[in-house]
Amino acid sequence: MTTECHDQTSISDDKRCVGVSKDDDPVYSLCLDLDDPSYVWMNCGMYTEDLSWLYDEDRDWPFQVALAKYTIRQVPIDDMCCLDTGSGRGGFCSFLRRYYSPRATIGMDIHRRQQTWTSRRFAGTGMRLVTGDAQRLPFVSESFDVVTNLESVLHYRNRRCFFAEARRVLRRDGYLCLSCNVVDPEDVTADMQSVGFTLVEVTDITEWIVKAATVDSRRIRELLLRMAKTDSAKTSARRLATRAAASAQLFTARHRYCSWIVQAH
Ligand SMILES: C[S@@+](CC[C@H](N)C(=O)[O-])C[C@H]1O[C@@H](n2cnc3c(N)ncnc32)[C@H](O)[C@@H]1O
Repeated sequence: MTTECHDQTSISDDKRCVGVSKDDDPVYSLCLDLDDPSYVWMNCGMYTEDLSWLYDEDRDWPFQVALAKYTIRQVPIDDMCCLDTGSGRGGFCSFLRRYYSPRATIGMDIHRRQQTWTSRRFAGTGMRLVTGDAQRLPFVSESFDVVTNLESVLHYRNRRCFFAEARRVLRRDGYLCLSCNVVDPEDVTADMQSVGFTLVEVTDITEWIVKAATVDSRRIRELLLRMAKTDSAKTSARRLATRAAASAQLFTARHRYCSWIVQAH
């Protein structure tokens, strides 16, 4: 069992594996205009009928939390050392800590300003936040039991570098759990297998992602607008809500939204 998760500069020197800084990314900068502590999710959400398991404190983001729960499904989290890559505003790490009992939870994201916000938001909760590139993970080999990645891999210049890095930092039999919209699900599976993962399960959940956007986008828009305290924040909230609603169209037109569980061997 892993007891610690050490930081270390990654061994990868491959130039294709260098991430582009997201500090100027217009979308994540819009998110930073909204300082509300309850705004910790940036994924599309997944529709589900049964929300009886959802904690009251999460009722503003039911489908975003449902997507996180689905992403890990049967993978054991209790007493495990977990790394969330592309951790955004910390929602997934916080979910893992509150609904399970992981040994350690580390959130890693390339967006420095966003990580500063998230570190402040979750100060004192035991969650650790690291700024870094998922394509060059700043951790020693075989230091995690579970690596998660929720709607982040589509941003990477070279997703195979990320898969190789996830394989490297995972212990033997550890899991990578990944949910994302992609244009080529079969190629994603092949890329994972090519770096030493065995496929446990891949499911196409496009229908449930589109349904979440359909039934919930108006409420999310109002929620974001309520969080916005200034005129410029309101403009940002409107742009974020419009963009979120448009994502559903993208999935049906070109992308499939899939969820993978693969195991290191
Ligand atoms: C759509 S957000 C999802 C955030 C979070 N997983 C969630 O579900 O709320 C994508 C995140 O991936 C991060 N990201 C993009 N490229 C990255 C990279 N190369 N390494 C690490 N994080 C990256 C972005 O900064 C952003 O926070």
